Amino acid sequence: MSDAVVEIDNVSKSFDDIVAVDRVSLRVEQGQTLGLIGPNGAGKTTLLRLISTLAKPDSGDIRLLGVSVCEEPRAIRRVIGFMPAEFGSPRNLNIEEYLDFFSCMYDIPRSERRQRVRDVCELTDLRGREDVMVKGLSTGNRQRLLLAKTLLHDPDLLVLDEPASGLDPRARTELRAIVRELASIGKTIIISSHILPDIEDISDCIGILEAGQLVLDGSLDTLRNDRTHTHCVVKLRVPPEETERAAELIEPLDGVISCERVDQMLLISSDEPDGNFILAELLKHNIRIVQFTEDEPDLEEIFMRFTAGKVT
Ligand SMILES: Nc1ncnc2c1ncn2[C@@H]1O[C@H](COP(=O)(O)OP(=O)(O)OP(=O)(O)O)[C@@H](O)[C@H]1O
Ligand SMILES: [Mg+2]
Repeated sequence: MSDAVVEIDNVSKSFDDIVAVDRVSLRVEQGQTLGLIGPNGAGKTTLLRLISTLAKPDSGDIRLLGVSVCEEPRAIRRVIGFMPAEFGSPRNLNIEEYLDFFSCMYDIPRSERRQRVRDVCELTDLRGREDVMVKGLSTGNRQRLLLAKTLLHDPDLLVLDEPASGLDPRARTELRAIVRELASIGKTIIISSHILPDIEDISDCIGILEAGQLVLDGSLDTLRNDRTHTHCVVKLRVPPEETERAAELIEPLDGVISCERVDQMLLISSDEPDGNFILAELLKHNIRIVQFTEDEPDLEEIFMRFTAGKVT
């Protein structure tokens, strides 16, 4: 029996002549956090809506815990919590009333509702604010409330569409901590965001979408270490009077993508697996090397390398 909670199998979805999701296949294992990234219009929201049964694929299928979203959408809705990017206009309710209202919608028995609302407020740091009105909430508290609502029926899989959008740095840090806590209690999470350092921090695996297609996916460690997928980034410091000569030697070398002058350093991006050829060239010309370090590429570099700026 497979450990995959989510199995996306060759799924496509079009709107008239726009192919929003184009033959995407992807798996997410039990307890993992998948970060879904991609430029505007890449198809992230559409894919998350397909997973959450809010739209139907034109072809292909998605199974959650072995159950098909196409065949049994009602069963799926019981095990999934979808947090949309937008907040629907709320009624004139306070936080507790709002969550109680949605507990009814999720068929949570009356006797359990109060405790359930308390639990989700605890998880999302909303305890003590239950009587604050929903209208006029700050963005941080609004995102917490949306997440609390998503957790009410204790779903196994959380699908979060840009939960950190519009948050200030402290609220973002707090949200990351909440997502990590949810992962630590065994939730499987799919999260989309444009904030790549956040995604890098909380995800076990990454999917990069562009123009509807999955251009890259895998565990973060694999993507960072696999030199066929990534390239090396070299930080070079030479004596200041030699910086320009070093740049002129490096720039024309095969395998060098860019060579930027940053402060007194050269920041060299290369599509070779390592920077030895740069080092050899410098030594050949007797350039004195003060510092030569190779960095692991971060998610932003991986993203820039694997997306070409295509839009649908
Ligand atoms: N209901 C719809 N009707 C028509 N076109 C749609 C609809 N929903 C999405 N699209 C189109 O499908 C493509 C993918 O959109 P989607 O919202 O999934 O992208 P996204 O990756 O979530 O973008 P963003 O980062 O801006 O949120 C876009 O070209 C969009 O205009
Ligand atoms: Mg979106």
